[in-house]
Amino acid sequence: MTEPTTAPERIAARDRATERGSGSGRAAGHAIHHLRAGGTSLVLDLSGGGLPRILHWGDALGEATIADLEAVRAAAERQVVSNGLDVAPTFSVVPEQSTGWLGTPGLSGHRDGRDFSTAFAVTHVDPIEGDAVVAEGVQVVAADDVAGLLLAVTVQITHSGVVRLRGAVTNVGETPYTVDGLAVVLPVPIEAEEILDLTGRHVRERAPQRHAFTTGTHARESRRGRTGLDATLLVVAGVPGFSFRSGEVWGVHVAWSGNHRTLAERTSQGDAVLGGGELLLPGEMVLQPEGAYRGPWVYGSHGHGLDALSARFHEYLRARPGHPRAARPVVLNTWEAVYFDHDPVALCALADAAAEVGVERFVLDDGWSLGRRSPRAGLGDWWVDPAVWPDGLGPLVSHVRSLGMDFGLWFEPEMVSPDSELARRHPDWILSAGGRLPPSSRSQQVLDLTHPRAYAYVRDRLDAIVTEYAVDYIKWDHNRDLVEAGRSLDGRPGVHLQTRAAYRLMDELRERHPALEIESCSSGGGRIDLEVLERTDRVWASDCIDALERRQIERWTALLLPPELIGSHVGAETAQWTGRRHALSFRAGTALFWSFGIEWDLRTASSEQRAELARWVSLYKSLRPLLHTGRVVRADHPDPALQIQGTVARDGSEAVFAVAALATSAWSPPGRARLPGLEADARYRLRPLPPADEIPRYGPDARGPRWWDEGEVTLTGRVLGGVGVQIPALQPERLVLIHAERV
Ligand code: DGJ
Repeated sequence: MTEPTTAPERIAARDRATERGSGSGRAAGHAIHHLRAGGTSLVLDLSGGGLPRILHWGDALGEATIADLEAVRAAAERQVVSNGLDVAPTFSVVPEQSTGWLGTPGLSGHRDGRDFSTAFAVTHVDPIEGDAVVAEGVQVVAADDVAGLLLAVTVQITHSGVVRLRGAVTNVGETPYTVDGLAVVLPVPIEAEEILDLTGRHVRERAPQRHAFTTGTHARESRRGRTGLDATLLVVAGVPGFSFRSGEVWGVHVAWSGNHRTLAERTSQGDAVLGGGELLLPGEMVLQPEGAYRGPWVYGSHGHGLDALSARFHEYLRARPGHPRAARPVVLNTWEAVYFDHDPVALCALADAAAEVGVERFVLDDGWSLGRRSPRAGLGDWWVDPAVWPDGLGPLVSHVRSLGMDFGLWFEPEMVSPDSELARRHPDWILSAGGRLPPSSRSQQVLDLTHPRAYAYVRDRLDAIVTEYAVDYIKWDHNRDLVEAGRSLDGRPGVHLQTRAAYRLMDELRERHPALEIESCSSGGGRIDLEVLERTDRVWASDCIDALERRQIERWTALLLPPELIGSHVGAETAQWTGRRHALSFRAGTALFWSFGIEWDLRTASSEQRAELARWVSLYKSLRPLLHTGRVVRADHPDPALQIQGTVARDGSEAVFAVAALATSAWSPPGRARLPGLEADARYRLRPLPPADEIPRYGPDARGPRWWDEGEVTLTGRVLGGVGVQIPALQPERLVLIHAERV
């Protein structure tokens, strides 16, 4: 059964709700549900008649019998304590005060001040059958006849052991019901005493922060109307000192591209939970009678070490039917090559240079559309600017195709420049509140896509251009936060509907152009979440292309996403945002592991640089089947100056590792480093991997490690993962690559 979202479904669900006690025998008959897959068990207890509560989320419990599971439940039963409620407190995935939960409620809302507290009783439980992605699940419908509400809760486990859950509330009362929030939570053991989450800003996304998981609520919120440059991809709780390779961890992700909230909460009643949901603005979600609201999916993964937690997410994402399966093409993006300086002849020359080094997709970035000569004007006027492109984009597109490359084009569909024809014609199609324009950002405002005519206009313009040039790929940008985002039609808060409209726009375009790929970009990495990834194929991790910064940004983006979804480009020698200069091997060896691209004016590159870049492009092409299906491993090296990352083939037959010096090391030589993730009993031949096999020799007598200079060494996976191998001393901001092949 699916969740009640349409009116007939809601009515059917309500009918079932009123049949409590007759048609709901299945609820009683399946009081405990043991969902398990991918080394994970999720034990759901429905025995009390209330909403499902989780008795265990974590390591697989094996072939537990019903009696075993009932014993788990019995062992979890609380005592009544002094000055507490006279019932043993419990909590469900949508916690309620009526069961003794005194932390953040799951559903908060009211009917003009009444019906603010609920006591849902389950009316129906349906198992969810598995498919290519989901191993199994349960759909629970519950009713609170006094409050006049129905709640549907869906809990699923994927084959890789990721769990996901969400709730949907329907107003079956006779007056409007305001939803203030609908969060779902997963319990974690009290041993999870440390929290890791991510923050960031423009050109420095996904910076990790760690702290103790003490009593109270640690909430990470986005009120930016987009996922956010500072958004946390995950909130992780684990045993103190957990690392990439060790320590039990649990993490949740809220899959929503608008305002949202992710929380870690520890109560004085001995509970700890992770969860979240959409963050609704005041009065944003008023349900009329029969109206329904469905919250976003909240995903959870666990593991021993962050690598194991990530691996479950990566495997889940790769199993989705919509996951990009074709080889991730080498991209050339024009942004840092020419910015707004569009000249058809120069861009054709850039395409020539791109094709020469092996580029497969040429993406024309911002600057092609009407009046768009700078960030200050033109957004919304989705026509090719004849002042710059007198013959349209046709000649460039034909040239790109004649060179054997795909053609991609930049759009920023949800935005409007006050200095544009669109804004002059429809000044009212702008999200705003209080009868004033919100503060502008990058000289732009947000187009109100909840206005049907504004939506239709943008959809039709994008469709026309995609059709005319048979665009293969859209770089879908979104360069500002949504503040004071009131709808143009009624002035009510519009972030929820705007987010849904953006999803719908992507969905409609993909329906009309089934082969179209979309990259999610938002001032760099400001819109990276699992819901936008249901309709996009790549994310732009950051505007900062400096390889040193990228090594951190991508490492942490990969906590959630597999490498093939994360765009990474080789920039010019001097990085625009930081002014750092890096060797090509450091820039290209950093981009190598991800969805590889180039963002550099190759017309200005020397023939030696182009030849070296072409070697990297061909290395990427030969390695991408491994890099984009294998398991990501991040070694826990004790020297903060060193970063060791690799990808191990799923069948354990080979692996590639990058050893990168982020700074100067206090140790010289650096000592042995563990290369984890290989099959323990298999033997691997290790070789330096060109073109990143060159190491500097310090002084006339200095040599590389013996095996490096001899060209190879063969060791077991157990030795490589547990004892390690000498790695070369590196200058700062340099890297080497190592290939491991099973013999
Ligand atoms: C922000 C993006 O992140 C950049 O890559 C580029 O597309 C600019 N917008 C264009 O305005």
